[in-house]
Amino acid sequence: MCGIVGYIGSETAAPIIVDGLRKLEYRGYDSAGVAIHDGGKIEVVRAMGKLRALDEALTHKPLEGTVGIGHTRWATHGRPSEENAHPHVAGGVAVVHNGIIENHTTLRHELQQKGVTFSSDTDTEIVAHLIAHALEDGAKTLIEATRTALQRVEGAYALAVLWDEHPDKIVAARHGSPLVVGFGEEAMLCGSDIPAVLSHTRDMIFLEDGDLAELSPGKCSIQTLKGNPVERPKKRIDWSPVMAEKGGYKHFMLKEIHEQPDAIAQTVLARVDLEHGDVFGEEIGLTPELATGCRRVYIVACGTSHHAGQIGRYWIEELAKVPCFIELGSETANRDTVFFEDDLLIAVSQSGETFDTIGAVKKAKAAGAKILAISNVMDSAIPRMSHGSLYTRAGPEIGVASTKCFTAQLAALLLVAVYLGRRRDTLTAEHAGEILQALTEVPAQMNELLDDRDYVRSVAMQMTHATDVLFLGRGYSFPIALEGALKLKEISYIHAEGYAAGEMKHGPIALIDEGLPVVILCPKDDSYDKTLGNLNEVRARDGQVIAIATKGDEAMHDVAHHILWMPEAHPLTLPMLTVVPLQLLSYYVASKKGLDVDQPRNLAKTVTVE
Ligand code: AGP
Repeated sequence: MCGIVGYIGSETAAPIIVDGLRKLEYRGYDSAGVAIHDGGKIEVVRAMGKLRALDEALTHKPLEGTVGIGHTRWATHGRPSEENAHPHVAGGVAVVHNGIIENHTTLRHELQQKGVTFSSDTDTEIVAHLIAHALEDGAKTLIEATRTALQRVEGAYALAVLWDEHPDKIVAARHGSPLVVGFGEEAMLCGSDIPAVLSHTRDMIFLEDGDLAELSPGKCSIQTLKGNPVERPKKRIDWSPVMAEKGGYKHFMLKEIHEQPDAIAQTVLARVDLEHGDVFGEEIGLTPELATGCRRVYIVACGTSHHAGQIGRYWIEELAKVPCFIELGSETANRDTVFFEDDLLIAVSQSGETFDTIGAVKKAKAAGAKILAISNVMDSAIPRMSHGSLYTRAGPEIGVASTKCFTAQLAALLLVAVYLGRRRDTLTAEHAGEILQALTEVPAQMNELLDDRDYVRSVAMQMTHATDVLFLGRGYSFPIALEGALKLKEISYIHAEGYAAGEMKHGPIALIDEGLPVVILCPKDDSYDKTLGNLNEVRARDGQVIAIATKGDEAMHDVAHHILWMPEAHPLTLPMLTVVPLQLLSYYVASKKGLDVDQPRNLAKTVTVE
């Protein structure tokens, strides 16, 4: 996610803005820039890479002036480059933006018809042109012009805007992407997150969707997109700066677990056509030729991403009726794996830099296979090697244990499976529409689950002394059992094993006794009856049963010691939900043990070595 900072007051703006952007560095970025009004005109300085590059550029080109806006960019539209860095300027208007303009293509074409030439591939530059055109068409103030422009925009945005003719104003606007206004000493600030302004003030207003704020030294007035004045309560933030970076959460991992609803919503945004039951191929890196021309699909990934790939495999075979294979990157890269020219290889990688997965992609590419990358980092190594890329829009994931990227990968893989099924005529528009509708409901269902976290914490408190834990699941729940075991292992250092519930009788059942916690995923899906049978087998041998079950399933009270309830959900979207209590369980166990949850021992966030 990008960072925004704005300042208007009596001090030199540039250093204040860059310092505010530095407080947002944890959000990750690939370029940065500032626009400063020096009283006469707006000057812009932008730089690729880290903020020190921007600092250096500002050393060579110092910007005076007490009004300005700044931005750190996490690329979503348009690859990381200086010309795509914000701020973007058009007709004396400078804009910085977080979010995604859904109708960017339509607006871009419309502006080009009016003779506009663009200097970047970004959706943000479109907004700068729209505001400039509104001023040319007679808007008297910057906030009026911004309001006119935003009435044309569909999608999510947080904006800060400057106009060279009014040096005493900054306009800030929010819809679907957070923006706070800070009340400093004789100054006003805005920022995309609390840390950006916290070192200047603890008194803030949180803009709401549709709000536009006009900031001038010591003053802020807010109106709606319709132009009606509105008041927002001023709040006193008593967080420490470190707490603020984590959004008030104790660890980044807990913050990222709670960011999952938004990560899924952003990953799905502007990629589904609910009306026609379809997915926009050009938005997910696929073409009809690729979808119909491949004789088999191969998924390759490591760790948590491999667990996502395992579920993606089930979905692709079920919806697209095409043979789908899944393998660990390290295995594919190190055996004589056979690939064909008409293979489609899907490489799933949060970082896009995992050595083992890259090795597998190289092998498949050398055999002529087509590559689709599913990654969270634009322009990382694997997308750069691929024929198409589908970016999860989860924002940077700081915690080493992957959570929001995992569920965002599941959302992305479900989009791929639906697209393949629709192109290969194995999935009707009606059935696809049901699945996509269910996918859009996942964020709300997840929020409902996250509200139950206190009960999960109470169950976790009883597991902190366990030395071994078994996770069991069938069908889509089997990879989730593997993921739950990995989460517990990697952050609490308790040995945990994920197993196919159907395999219990082939060995693991010998482990069951009163000292062994057994987490069984037993939601009301096609595997329910058989998994309930496994659950009874565990209970009959005095295993400590922690069941993940569907709300209302009264039978669970007779067989489980603890029940973590799931809402009713579509069977295909259920895995995105059943993993949440397992993420929370591992988090609370590790946190209770006082371990370094965000940076577990021996682990790295990106494994770029063999
Ligand atoms: C996940 O919690 C782990 N940190 C690890 O297994 C990770 O999923 C694996 O290293 C793959 O990383 P990638 O998604 O960046 O390729």
